[in-house]
Amino acid sequence: MDMLMFELNKDTTTPLYEQLYNGIKTAIMSKQIEVGTKLPSKKNLAEFLNISQTTIEVAYAQLMAEGFIVSKPRIGFFVEDIDELPYIETKQAEWPIEDAEEKTFRFDFHPGKIDTDSFPFSQWRKYAKDLYDHPSKNLLQNGEPQGEYTLRTEIAKYLYQSRGIVCQPEQIVIGSGTEQLLPMILRLLENDSKFSLENPGYSAIPRNQLQNKAIPIPVDEDGLIVDELEKTNANVVYVTPSHQFPTGAVLSATRRTQLLHWAAKAENRYIIEDDYDSEFRYTGKPIPALQGMDQNNKVIYLSTFSKSLMPSLRVAYFVLPPTLLKKYKETFSYYSATVPRFDQHIVASFMRDGYFSKHLNRMRKIYRKKLDKLTHIFKTHYPEVIITGDQAGMHILISLPLPIREDTLKRIAAESSIAIYPVTDYLLKPIDYKYPTFLLGFGGIPLEKLEEGIHQLMHCWSLAKY
Ligand SMILES: Cc1ncc(COP(=O)(O)O)c(C=O)c1O
Repeated sequence: MDMLMFELNKDTTTPLYEQLYNGIKTAIMSKQIEVGTKLPSKKNLAEFLNISQTTIEVAYAQLMAEGFIVSKPRIGFFVEDIDELPYIETKQAEWPIEDAEEKTFRFDFHPGKIDTDSFPFSQWRKYAKDLYDHPSKNLLQNGEPQGEYTLRTEIAKYLYQSRGIVCQPEQIVIGSGTEQLLPMILRLLENDSKFSLENPGYSAIPRNQLQNKAIPIPVDEDGLIVDELEKTNANVVYVTPSHQFPTGAVLSATRRTQLLHWAAKAENRYIIEDDYDSEFRYTGKPIPALQGMDQNNKVIYLSTFSKSLMPSLRVAYFVLPPTLLKKYKETFSYYSATVPRFDQHIVASFMRDGYFSKHLNRMRKIYRKKLDKLTHIFKTHYPEVIITGDQAGMHILISLPLPIREDTLKRIAAESSIAIYPVTDYLLKPIDYKYPTFLLGFGGIPLEKLEEGIHQLMHCWSLAKY
């Protein structure tokens, strides 16, 4: 063998001799250099690789010590027969390819996307700067496991004013998202609890930990069908009464009372009320939270800043009935808060100084405009499309009278770089929908792009018809 080409990197902490030793060893073990091959002389290899002879000497000595090569005096170095050494070919790790890189679409109708053009960055930056500029040494230490008291105070005030919820900051627990808080709530309830979920419903929950165990309860245009819940042996129900996810139904007044009565009938019964996007209601009066109507400490209220501020903030909270506080303290007071204290203080200042309310008012108008435009486009150009769930929130449902499966339509849209989400992705138990039905999130699409997005979507689907 005349020469051995190895890429040696002088800028790493791994010594050159070790890099060379590893390179030759791997080549021998993988049979790239055959048994009996004569290696280049130390002098020639040093010149060729532009490194010192000592480096080659040390690498060869190590290979000899491990039996990979032998030295024949005055002739040179030869590769030994190492057949008995098992060579295990290192396989490429099987990465979840889909997750390796975030997929981007020309139009992404995901219901969790928010409008990013209207975020009050300058105000946010001011609060962040104040915190980091002024000596906030104390914030470097761990804070309250339940979350910063100042933020809990602001949340309690906000909930009272906007949702009719009466609670003390002591009842509030802050955490990094609904997904993280929900398992905490489940741990507070009895071990043998039987959980029930809306069907269709928020998919993060069954995926979280209730998979196969939760009891699906159907929903209709008045929200969760409480009569169906009553037929089961469930003692805990997770429900989105103000804006059923994903159908958009509002739990009717009769059903609200019925649900609270159901909960009051047994000591171990609880309602988990997820009020994730109640800030964005466009028609009629705001719907007060179930928690505010509850006289029996049966509602665990849960909400998030993912829609009202940004999903990446990862701040959500729950409000416990006083009866569960003792259990909470016993179970969780040893854990640290999961949201950085600095972020909690930024949110608290933003709320305290009235910017949160201003932001919500502004965003409500923006989303309302987007919703109006969206429904107008469908009514004008695609009247055959059935729209539901357009009273609140940041998504609607569209049903298409097409004899084509939802997954096929989803694939066709994806081929045109459009992401669209079938309602069947949110089912705990199959439902036979008359027409293919999709969630169409409009939060993340700029107002001026909505029309183009819908036309492109409908265009690619119209080609699929024939
Ligand atoms: C029903 C429902 N609950 C909660 C959330 C928010 O979850 P998180 O607080 O984990 O961002 C969403 C997300 O958009 C949702 O659709």
